[in-house]
Amino acid sequence: MCGIVGIIGNQPVAPLLVDALKRLEYRGYDSAGVATLHDGKLDRRRAEGKLINLETELTSTPLEGNVGIGHTRWATHGAPTQNNAHPHFCEGVAVVHNGIIENFSEIRDELSARGAQFTTDTDTEVVAQLLASLLRSGKSTKEAMLATLNIIRGAYAIAVLIEGENGQIIGARNGPPLAVGYGKGEMFLGSDAIALSPFTDDITYLEDGDWAIIDRNGVEIFDIEGNSVERARRKAFTAYAQVDKGNHRHFMEKEIYEQPEVMSHTLAHYVDFSSGRVRDIASEIDFSSVDSLKIAACGTAYYAGQIGKNWFERYAGLPVEIDVASEFRYREMPLPGSQAALFVSQSGETADTLASLRYCKEHGLKIGAIVNVRESTIAREADVVFPTLAGPEIGVASTKALTCQLSAFAALAIAAGRARGTLVEDEEVNMVRALSEAPRIAGSVLNTIQPQLETLSRELSKFRHVLYLGRGTNYTLAMEGALKLKEISYIHAEGYAAGELKHGPIALIDENMPVIVIAPHDRHFEKTISNMQEVAARGGRIIFITDENGAAASTLETMSTIVLPNVDELVMPLIFTLPVQLLAYHTAVFMGTDVDQPRNLAKSVTVE
Ligand code: AGP
Repeated sequence: MCGIVGIIGNQPVAPLLVDALKRLEYRGYDSAGVATLHDGKLDRRRAEGKLINLETELTSTPLEGNVGIGHTRWATHGAPTQNNAHPHFCEGVAVVHNGIIENFSEIRDELSARGAQFTTDTDTEVVAQLLASLLRSGKSTKEAMLATLNIIRGAYAIAVLIEGENGQIIGARNGPPLAVGYGKGEMFLGSDAIALSPFTDDITYLEDGDWAIIDRNGVEIFDIEGNSVERARRKAFTAYAQVDKGNHRHFMEKEIYEQPEVMSHTLAHYVDFSSGRVRDIASEIDFSSVDSLKIAACGTAYYAGQIGKNWFERYAGLPVEIDVASEFRYREMPLPGSQAALFVSQSGETADTLASLRYCKEHGLKIGAIVNVRESTIAREADVVFPTLAGPEIGVASTKALTCQLSAFAALAIAAGRARGTLVEDEEVNMVRALSEAPRIAGSVLNTIQPQLETLSRELSKFRHVLYLGRGTNYTLAMEGALKLKEISYIHAEGYAAGELKHGPIALIDENMPVIVIAPHDRHFEKTISNMQEVAARGGRIIFITDENGAAASTLETMSTIVLPNVDELVMPLIFTLPVQLLAYHTAVFMGTDVDQPRNLAKSVTVE
């Protein structure tokens, strides 16, 4: 996902723009650039690859100017080259853009037929060319911007600088977030509160269809018809105040080890540890009258939803239908109003999840959102927000967000069980007590298993294919483990239901493909042991993740056995995801990949 920043400042802005872009690196990118206005003239520097390359450019040829815009690009149309890097220029217009202009090719054809000379392979360049042609035709800045926004279609967050309009930045939003920041005699524009946090926490998020003309004295916001609109001005959560790695090598490592703390923050939001009861959190969704629940999400958030589904059905007797959001949004499934829907998203900006939310909202469902960024679009469009208190998650691979999402789901499932009469008070108190133990157990597990996992990861990094197996919620953890490994180490990995082994995957088993089996001593344990014997009988090499009872009950020869404490079944997913995360992390470190910003990936996918 691209990052955008703009500054109308009282000092040279180029270095400030780059610093702000560094706070957006977590989104993933493959080129970057800045443009400034100095004495009414535009100039720019752009570079392929990481921001250090842009800084090198700026050191050798500095940019003057107290007004500027910057961009980190995650390539969609056109290779990640310097020439395709933003800002894009055309006759005194500079544009940076996050999203996709869906009708860019017809606009490009039309402008080319009228003599426009395109110089890049990007969709974004059409915005600069279109604006320039409208200005050339005599339209004012406002008229030209309004006309442009009514011609382009698709998802966009845009920032524009125009020569001669000293001290003005124009921003527009339709999909990917964009916020205006208020300073003292300065004004800012950025993709999110993290980008703006060094300058201000006094911000206004633009809504879809909004655009804004920002000058030194403030901002005027318009809708797509050109009418002035008012938008809330709010204090961004200071959780973004300082985001750094601490004494860790990567954000991902830091975030794995933050889990005990942030799980307890999240649980404390939902449960009263002294009374052993879940707080009255679900008033906006009356679980006693809802006859079924829809859940949609992507990636790791989807796996959190799958485990949530398991819990809602088991502890609350509530039928749940779940799908990945990119499928959910197009299924056109029947959605009677007697249902509720939950959307899970760390960033709160994932395009497919947002589209699924809007689909359910149009059908009259009550909408809940489990999100980590409270001022995000998904949070703002939900009827009720169930926050995860994980703090900023910078590593592209989601870790602490998952365990906080599971903490929220566990509390919600208990609340639903209480509302639907499937859980009596004693059961609720016991479940809450088990949950209250989870952060402490997580802390001790993380400190105990690290050396064994680091050694094992060195072995694992020699393989090109890995299979993860599990049953019940451990099947979901098997898929999450495969996602973690593949997305940061680039080793091919698949998560499979252990019971499905004989229906195909067993053909893959040989000594060249380790099989990671996630099997605490729960009600699926014996069946999973049988699956492991089938693997061992064919020369498969097993990495066994179990608990003390499971280790005592198994005599199987393994490549390695990771033994976790015996925990309540409700808490197992929160604990058994930890070795899965660490295995992926250390393997990626041995592989030498960019752990926090793996190739081709963005932290939040705000385009389809
Ligand atoms: C998980 O490690 C990935 N980074 C990715 O699958 C992510 O979970 C997915 O894109 C959903 O993001 P969201 O939670 O911000 O909606």
